Amino acid sequence: MSRTAPGPEGHLLLGNAREFRDHPLDLMMRCRRQYGDVVRLRMGPVALHLVFNPEHVGRVLEGATFGRSDVASMFEPLLGGSMIIADGEPWRSQRQALAPTFARERLKQLAGRFREAAVDLVHRWEEALRRGLELDAQQEITRYALETMAIYLVGRRFDAQESADISRAWYTCLRSMADRLSAMVPLPAWLPTPSMRRLLAAEQDISRIILHHVQERRQELKPEDRGDFLSVLVHTPTPEGRKLTDAEILAEAKGLFLAGFDTVASAMSWTLHACAAHPGVQHRLREEVRAVARDASPLGGAVADMPYFRRVFNEAVRLNPPLWIVDRKAQEDVELGGFHIPKGSNIITCPYVTHRDPAYWEDPLVFDPDRFLPARSEGRPRYAHFPFGGGRMKCIGVGMAMMEAQILFTELLSRFRVELSPWRPVELEPTLVLRARAGLHLKLSLAGAEGPPITTSSTVPPLGAIA
Ligand code: HEM
Repeated sequence: MSRTAPGPEGHLLLGNAREFRDHPLDLMMRCRRQYGDVVRLRMGPVALHLVFNPEHVGRVLEGATFGRSDVASMFEPLLGGSMIIADGEPWRSQRQALAPTFARERLKQLAGRFREAAVDLVHRWEEALRRGLELDAQQEITRYALETMAIYLVGRRFDAQESADISRAWYTCLRSMADRLSAMVPLPAWLPTPSMRRLLAAEQDISRIILHHVQERRQELKPEDRGDFLSVLVHTPTPEGRKLTDAEILAEAKGLFLAGFDTVASAMSWTLHACAAHPGVQHRLREEVRAVARDASPLGGAVADMPYFRRVFNEAVRLNPPLWIVDRKAQEDVELGGFHIPKGSNIITCPYVTHRDPAYWEDPLVFDPDRFLPARSEGRPRYAHFPFGGGRMKCIGVGMAMMEAQILFTELLSRFRVELSPWRPVELEPTLVLRARAGLHLKLSLAGAEGPPITTSSTVPPLGAIA
């Protein structure tokens, strides 16, 4: 007979809610160390389960008996109608309607515009270098991610006013959502708290900007396929043969914004941080990037095979996965690892913890991209590494994320050498995505032809270990 999973006692009334809100990564690492593969936490009167073992993670993400968690419904005021909070049949048909916007051939159409955004970033950095200014690489990369997201959604970068308005509104929404998610007592969405009013006002600003583009596109006499999301969603009938309404397109655009903007900015920031922390890795990557840049093909790094880049990226998101938890809800009573999980329980899988588990990763804190070489990956469980989730709801934007990142790193590393600033230590901030709390302040210099000797691995700053 299966038992109740073990877990920390916590506060009499609040359970583990306060610690989960204030120090979620430390709490989850401690839970894995002290209690094992399946751990029960208490959020006030409600139990939730942490699942760390890759085999159990696979069962949760791939199993038909696990659906969207209660967190998804908390996003309703911002994302109602979007595929990313839908489930069941609506989710299936929405995912089918969005899939063509991520087809490889369509993404390739966007590559030139992504490259222009990357080149502009390089020009800004050159200017900063010339004037001796310090820059926050995380902020800069986030700006590039906003530009590529706009290109994907509406076919071009937002103008300066739109960018300023949408960034301001977006971060207001995220702050209100974070308040909502971390509230000790979850309040209903209809209660007009100051935070909820700010969220709704900001949501209106975002909607206004996106709807303006939708309507502009609808009015085109000769619709042109620009390879973007609107080219598909405005003009192409769904698999069921009908056109989507403005409200449906808006909901999907906001969902994609949430899923694909800060996530990719976080992944690229941590990849650059790793390059700065590991000169040998950076040097080897620059060699690969320069070989791609020498290739005269107009798409260059967008579609070239860059196996070392892929390994560096994989290793960066192993240690710092942008989405540090992936959640589900048990739709029936289930048993995992000998423990009973009752129907209705929310379940959290945690890439941050599983990715650092010495049971699957040798020297887990060592930054070693070559651990992803096929010969060294043999025998590693599929869900020991799941930065993009898995199963039917696996990230739909992996190809776009890799393309954005390859283009950026091809431009950046051809031009610059980056080093960590000794004065600005980096601290993790687990908000909706994993970010650097006070930004990422790097020392920049122009990259010459020569670099430091190659070393393929070195230890990352001590951000936490299981063993
Ligand atoms: C490195 C960057 C990214 C990371 C680490 C990432 C990670 C993830 C993860 C872990 C999930 C699964 C969530 C779950 O199962 O509940 C997911 C889903 C999703 N991602 Fe990404 N993502 C990234 C980039 C993108 C991009 C660029 C887009 C689109 C522009 C995107 C769109 C989506 C969507 C729409 C879903 C929901 C899929 C569904 O529910 O069927 N992601 N992502």
